[in-house]
Amino acid sequence: MKTLIAYASKHGCTEKCANMLEEQLEGEIEKIDLKEKTEVDFSQYDTVVLGSPVYVGKILKEVDIFAKTNLNELKQKTIGLFICGMQEEHTLRNELEVNYPPELQEKAVVRDCFGGAFDFNEMNFAEKMITKKVAKVTEDVSAIREDVIQNFAETLNQQLNKSL
Ligand SMILES: Cc1cc2nc3c(=O)[nH]c(=O)nc-3n(C[C@H](O)[C@H](O)[C@H](O)COP(=O)(O)O)c2cc1C
Repeated sequence: MKTLIAYASKHGCTEKCANMLEEQLEGEIEKIDLKEKTEVDFSQYDTVVLGSPVYVGKILKEVDIFAKTNLNELKQKTIGLFICGMQEEHTLRNELEVNYPPELQEKAVVRDCFGGAFDFNEMNFAEKMITKKVAKVTEDVSAIREDVIQNFAETLNQQLNKSL
C-alpha cells in the first residue's frame, strides 16, 4: 500500500515542502498536484497527506474542493494535514484548524504548519502590494520549517511501521 501526497501550490513553496516530505517518507509514495489532476484511485493508498498554502486566511480552492468531495474515501485512510503560511504561530494554528474539514482533523495522525516563503518574482502586482502592506516585507524570505517536516515524516513513518 502506498502514501499519496495531494497538494496545490501557487508560487512553488508548498510544492517544495511536498517534495521535502516525500524524500523523508518511507514506503512507496505518490504525489499529485491538484491543479493538474484530481482523479484518484483511493484503493491504492492507505495514507493520504493533504497540503496547501494559505492566502488571505484560506487554503487553495483545489485542496478545499478535493478534501470536501472525497471526504468519505479520505475518512477511511491514515491522514496527515499541512499548510504553508507566513503568519505568526497562533494564526497559523487557527488557519490549519479552520481550513480542513473537522472529520479530517479528527482522523489526522499528524497536522502541522510547514512555514512558507515570500517570492517577489512569483507574485503579481496585487500580491506584492498586499505583502508589502500587510506583512511589511519588501524582499524574498524563505522560512520553511525543515524540523517540522522531519517530525511530520517521522510520525507517519512510525504509523506505517506499526501497521506492518
Ligand atoms: C497575497 C498573499 C496573501 C497571503 N495570505 C496569507 C495568510 O492569510 N496567512 C498566511 O499564513 N500566509 C499568507 N501568505 C503567505 C503564503 O501562504 C506563503 O507565501 C506560502 O509560502 C505560499 O505558498 P505557495 O508558494 O505554495 O503558493 C500570503 C502570501 C501572499 C503573497
